[in-house]
Amino acid sequence: MLHICVDAGVSVVPQGGNTGLVGGAVPRGAVVLDLRRLDTVEVDDVAGSVVAGAGATVGAVQVAARAAGLRYGVDLASRDTATIGGTIATNAAGLRAVRLGDTRAQLIDVEAVLTTGAVISRRGGLTRDNSGYDLPRWICGSEGTLAVVTAARLRLLPDPADRATALLGFADLPAAVAAAATLRREPAVEVLELMFAPGVALVCEQHGMSPPFASNPPVLLLVEVTAAADAGSLLGELVENVPGVADVAAGVDAADARRLWAYRELHTESIGRVGIPHKLDVALPLPALAGFVAEVTAELARLRPDARAWIFGHVGEGNLHLNVTGLDPADEDADDAVLRLVAAAGGSISAEHGIGRAKQRWLPLVRSAEEIAVWRAVKSAFDPTGTLNPGVLLPN
Ligand code: MLT
Ligand code: ZN
Repeated sequence: MLHICVDAGVSVVPQGGNTGLVGGAVPRGAVVLDLRRLDTVEVDDVAGSVVAGAGATVGAVQVAARAAGLRYGVDLASRDTATIGGTIATNAAGLRAVRLGDTRAQLIDVEAVLTTGAVISRRGGLTRDNSGYDLPRWICGSEGTLAVVTAARLRLLPDPADRATALLGFADLPAAVAAAATLRREPAVEVLELMFAPGVALVCEQHGMSPPFASNPPVLLLVEVTAAADAGSLLGELVENVPGVADVAAGVDAADARRLWAYRELHTESIGRVGIPHKLDVALPLPALAGFVAEVTAELARLRPDARAWIFGHVGEGNLHLNVTGLDPADEDADDAVLRLVAAAGGSISAEHGIGRAKQRWLPLVRSAEEIAVWRAVKSAFDPTGTLNPGVLLPN
C-alpha cells in the first residue's frame, strides 16, 4: 500500500487510537493508514518481554503482562484506546515515567516499514545489543514521519505484589514541589501527580464526587508506592517524614485508591466539558516550577482576563499540563506568551505530547537551526519521497 502511495505522490498518515493531543495523526489531503487491526499481543515469559502489534492497546498489553505475573511500564489515562504503535510514534510517557521511564525506555525492538519498501527489524529481541545506531529509538518519538511502526518488542518488568496510594494536601505549590523532590528519591515511589484545588473541584462537580478533604487544600499530590509487601506502611512512613504535608487521604482499599486516582484521571475529560481547551504540555526544571506557575498565571490574567488556566501534571518530572479554556480556538497569543515564558525558564514546549502540527510554530524556541537541519537529513534518509506525515513535527 505504501509503495502505491509513493508512486502516486500521495501522502500517508499512520493512525492508531487517535488519542494524540497535538494533531500529529490528523490528515490533510492524505491517505490514513489505520493500524488498529494489527492487535496481536504475545508475552515472551523467558525473555521477559512482549511482542505487540502496532494496533494493540496499551491496556491490552498491560493485561497480558499481568496475566504472566509481569507488567508494562507505560501507563496513561487513555490506556484502553491508545495503541502501542501510537505510543511508540509519540514516545508516550504518562503516569509512571518518573520511575519506570517513557516508551523509549521500554523499547527492545521495532518492526517498521519504510516508504522505500524496506522493513527494519531485529527480530531476535536481544536486550543488550550495542552494535551501532539505534534505529528503533530514532523511530520512537518521530511522530510517524520516519516509518510506519507495525509491531514492537517491549520490555516487561517484575510486578510488585503490593501498592498503596495516597492523596496529600499542601498549603502552597513550593511545599508540594519540595515534597515531590524528596519523595522522588525514594525507590518505591512511582507516581507523583500534581493537582490544584480548582481542577479537583471541577472533577467533583462534573462527576458527582465528594471532595477529598473538608479543608480544601490549594495544592494536591497523588502518590503511589509499590513494594513486595506492606506498601501501605511504607507509604505511611514516607509521608510522615515529608515536611509540609497538611492533609493526607489514604487509599485504604482498592475502591478508595481508585477514587483517589479518579480525581487525577478525570481532569482532561472534565476540562473538555468546560470548553475546547488550548492544550499546553510543558516541562520545567523543578526549582523553576513554582515561580513559573505564579508568573504564567499572572501573565494569562493580564493578557486574557476571561480565560481560565487549569494546571495539573507529572510533577516528578517537572511536567505541567496547562489547559486554557475560554480562548478563541484561533487565538494563539496566550499559547505564545506561555511557551516563551517556558523557554525563558529553561523548559521545554513539549514534555510528553510531542510537536505534531500544533506546536511546530514554537519549535525554534527549544531546538536550534542546526538540530532541525540534522532532523531533515534523517527524515530524507528514512523517507526520501517525504510521503509520511508531511507537515508534522518538521516545518514544511
Ligand atoms: C494526562 O496526563 O492526563 C494527559 O497527558 C494530559 C492532557 O490531557 O492534557
Ligand atoms: Zn500527561
